[in-house]
Amino acid sequence: MTDKQTTIKPWGGRFTEMTDSLVDAFGASIRFDQRLYRHDITGSLAHARMLAHIGVISTAECKAICDGLQAIQVDIENDNFSWLVSLEDVHMNIEARLTQRIGDAGKKLHTGRSRNDQVATDLRLYLRAEIDALQLTLEQMQTVLIDIAEQEADTIMPGFTHLQVAQPITFGHHLLAWNAMLQRDRERLADCRKRVDVMPLGSAALAGTSYPIDRQFTADALGFTAISENSLDAVSDRDFVIEFIAAATLIMTHLSRFSEEIILWSSSQFSFVELSDSYCTGSSIMPQKKNPDVPELVRGKTGRVNGHLLAMLTLLKGQPLAYNKDNQEDKEPLFDTVDTLQICLRVFTGMLATMSIKREPMKIAAASGFSTATDLADYLVRKGVPFRDAHEVVGLAVRHCIDNDIELAAMKLDDLQALSGHIDNDVYTVLTLEGSVASRNHLGGTAPEQVRIAASRARAALSL
Ligand code: ARG
Repeated sequence: MTDKQTTIKPWGGRFTEMTDSLVDAFGASIRFDQRLYRHDITGSLAHARMLAHIGVISTAECKAICDGLQAIQVDIENDNFSWLVSLEDVHMNIEARLTQRIGDAGKKLHTGRSRNDQVATDLRLYLRAEIDALQLTLEQMQTVLIDIAEQEADTIMPGFTHLQVAQPITFGHHLLAWNAMLQRDRERLADCRKRVDVMPLGSAALAGTSYPIDRQFTADALGFTAISENSLDAVSDRDFVIEFIAAATLIMTHLSRFSEEIILWSSSQFSFVELSDSYCTGSSIMPQKKNPDVPELVRGKTGRVNGHLLAMLTLLKGQPLAYNKDNQEDKEPLFDTVDTLQICLRVFTGMLATMSIKREPMKIAAASGFSTATDLADYLVRKGVPFRDAHEVVGLAVRHCIDNDIELAAMKLDDLQALSGHIDNDVYTVLTLEGSVASRNHLGGTAPEQVRIAASRARAALSL
């Protein structure tokens, strides 16, 4: 027996001393990369079949390997598998277990492969599946938004700039703004997926392999649409992780902004919506309180995803070609980004679907704050007054209203006519909220009719 058995490391041949236990603990990724087990096994099954296909291993060996791997998968799923820190990572844990189970054939699995192309393959298989799952979750959130938008196409609320009441808008139009952001988010993920869906397997450690491998065979088995074209790049590239997290930070940014609105809207000062009890918490000291924890937490979790993006950019920036162990640090930020995004989207969707919309307070708020002032200016322009002069007249009207503590629509015709001879009785139609929103009836405008058209366009676009 060669002395290799003095260590259980699969790479222990050239070593005479055992790894320091602190180094074992420091270098091991098994605590977090075990979640890749399914993709690791899928990749190994494809690799083994390819090796048999090109005659590097026998059909019997291939069968033993595949049966063994499938049995290991069952063990893992039944929580009947002990992960060893001394075996570093998911790849070596599974391979060592395979050899233990099936003997020498297990030792042939790693022929023509390295953990470097293996881990890159696993990570891409993982992320591809997670992107698909996230796309579905995003689509569910969009469906809820579009449903509410359609239902609230006529609901009037104040639109804000600088968080000051600006012009009346429809609530449906407001919700479709959020949908537009989510639609771009899905497009970004779909675009990112194209670059995730590239197979590194076959790149081996860094230079490729001397075996006559059939990479197309493996790619077909794994459903990859493309095969990496440079082995050095393939084992060291983590751009796809960065791209994904960048897309994720934008999704979180959108959710965070939306959270901010929900928090404001559900406050007693706004009172535009009421969150369902099932999505709120109480206060341990103030019995009257109902806190919007869900949007607050979503807003808070945006910070950690932003942090993951910076972590990944920093991880890559100093690395020479090709693979470096630094890359083991890609997993926790990526996994946490996926988990955070998935739960935030799901909980947010549930919150939206169960929230009640308070049309009356919305309308009252829209009626206050002189939100139809622009409509009055536009009215004067239609009567031939230059816009700047009209702006001046409306400013004086607003001044009059402030001094008398009334809204624009409550101004007497005499008082309006004192400001401009171009004003007639028909002015009151433009001073109403309904008249104001209905007049913005063009592509992209807030009119109820446009909201209904936009909602059906948005629904059609759901299928990307
Ligand atoms: N656990 C490692 C990682 O996550 C697998 C690749 C290790 N490769 C190596 N040459 N040490 O990156």
